[in-house]
Amino acid sequence: MIFIKKNKIISFLVSGNGSNFKAVAEKIKSGIINGKTGIVISSSRDALALKKSEELGIKSLIINPEHYTSKKEYEEDMIKTLKNFKTDLIIAAGYMRILSPDFIKHFKNRIINIHPSLLPSFPGKSAQQQALDSGVRITGCTSHFIDEGTDTGPIIMQASVSIEYEDNIETLSAKILNEEHKILADSVRFFCEDKLVIINKKVKIKK
Ligand code: GRF
Repeated sequence: MIFIKKNKIISFLVSGNGSNFKAVAEKIKSGIINGKTGIVISSSRDALALKKSEELGIKSLIINPEHYTSKKEYEEDMIKTLKNFKTDLIIAAGYMRILSPDFIKHFKNRIINIHPSLLPSFPGKSAQQQALDSGVRITGCTSHFIDEGTDTGPIIMQASVSIEYEDNIETLSAKILNEEHKILADSVRFFCEDKLVIINKKVKIKK
C-alpha cells in the first residue's frame, strides 16, 4: 500500500504588523515549508497583517474579543473556525492575547509562539525594553510551543543578537525581528517535516 503523507495545514493568530506571518507564509507559498495555509485570524480590524494576507491571497477574518461577552465565547469561536479549516498547526505570530488552558488543550503541542527575548529571560510584555533596562549585552528571540504558562512552553529554537550601548527600542526590536523571521520559519518547517519531538519539556530536532 502506498502511504501518501498529507501536507499540514497552518493557521495564524495575529494582532498587528504581521511580519512574522508574512515570513512564514512566503516560505509556504514557495514550497520551502512543506505545508498549506489555513486561515489568518486577527483580533483587530486594524492589523496590518490583514493587508499582508490579502496580498498573499490567504483567507483571513477578524474575530474581535471585544464583540464577545466572555473570553470563553470568543475562544470557542476561534476553536470552531480553526477546526473548520482543519488546522494542524497554529502560529501565534504577534498575537497579543493570552490563550486559555482550555484553548490550548484543543491544540496540545500544536501552537507555536515567537517571543522577542531569550526565554526564560524577559517573558511577558515589552521584552525588548526589559532587556535594554537590565543592561544585558546579549538578547534575542525564542520560538516555543505554547503551554498553560506565560512564555514557559518547550523551546524549539533561539537566536541571539548583541545589544550595543547605542541601541534603543527601535534598533533593538528591528535586529530581533530579523532573527524572529528566520527561527519561526525554520521551526514551522521542522514541525511540518515531523522533526520536532517533545521529551520531558525539551524539544529534540530530529536530523
Ligand atoms: C514580534 O516582535 C513578536 O515577537 C512579538 O510582537 C512582534 C510582532 O511582530 N510578539 P509582527 O506582527 O510579526 O511584525
